[in-house]
Amino acid sequence: MFVFGNWKMNLDAEGTRALASALRTSLRGRSKSVQVAVFPPFPFLALVAEELEGSGVVLGAQNCWHQERGAFTGEVSPSQLRSVGASWVLVGHSERRHVIGEDDDLIREKLRAALAAGLSVVLCVGETLAQRDAGSAETVVRSQVEHAFAGLTSADLQRTLIAYEPVWAIGTGRTATPDQAVAMHAVVREALATRFGEDAARGAAVLYGGSVNADSAPGLMSSDGISGALVGGASLEAQSFAAIVGAAAS
Ligand code: PGA
Repeated sequence: MFVFGNWKMNLDAEGTRALASALRTSLRGRSKSVQVAVFPPFPFLALVAEELEGSGVVLGAQNCWHQERGAFTGEVSPSQLRSVGASWVLVGHSERRHVIGEDDDLIREKLRAALAAGLSVVLCVGETLAQRDAGSAETVVRSQVEHAFAGLTSADLQRTLIAYEPVWAIGTGRTATPDQAVAMHAVVREALATRFGEDAARGAAVLYGGSVNADSAPGLMSSDGISGALVGGASLEAQSFAAIVGAAAS
């Protein structure tokens, strides 16, 4: 199981250090069956790496650019992220897609570049409320998965987790029910099976994200085909995050 915390654009340096330190304490003695990673803002990656050293909590970044170096003011390359201790990166998060305006082609380029630089990737997919209401949730998610993995191999899939995050559940307090999540996870696996075959799709890890908290985690984490959680808001509070890790372990 995987429990990953996306800290988004929250906290200053001092608050970030305090959160990392509290996490270190709350996660001490946790089950080794859960892989835990946190995704702080770029300026605090090195600080969090230092604070969590030896804790077994792994470091990731929330975004990257798809080229290695050069005149890309304001962007950060996958190998720069590796050089400050990140081993994961989020690609295609719904806020990148819908607030910043990233499209499927850019997301595919980022996925390729991150994998080529040796990072592991959490590829985020998910439909908006309008798409769900129009009955196109499955088509949208299938197409996001197909686009992202076009031209990639099953070796690439092994270093990529997929996070199904319905946009209407992110930061809204409205979690998908376990049944809704299970149904959409099956859609993700079908799309993976078409490209990589049944075995690879079965072996792939698919996380759920969207208002996961200590209350909703047990139901979601024990559902069929859900390999863990990508947590936003509740990852900013060490006790809540530790409770979600605990739910994933049991
Ligand atoms: P949330 O965010 O848990 O605050 O809904 C999840 C995410 O954006 O990954």
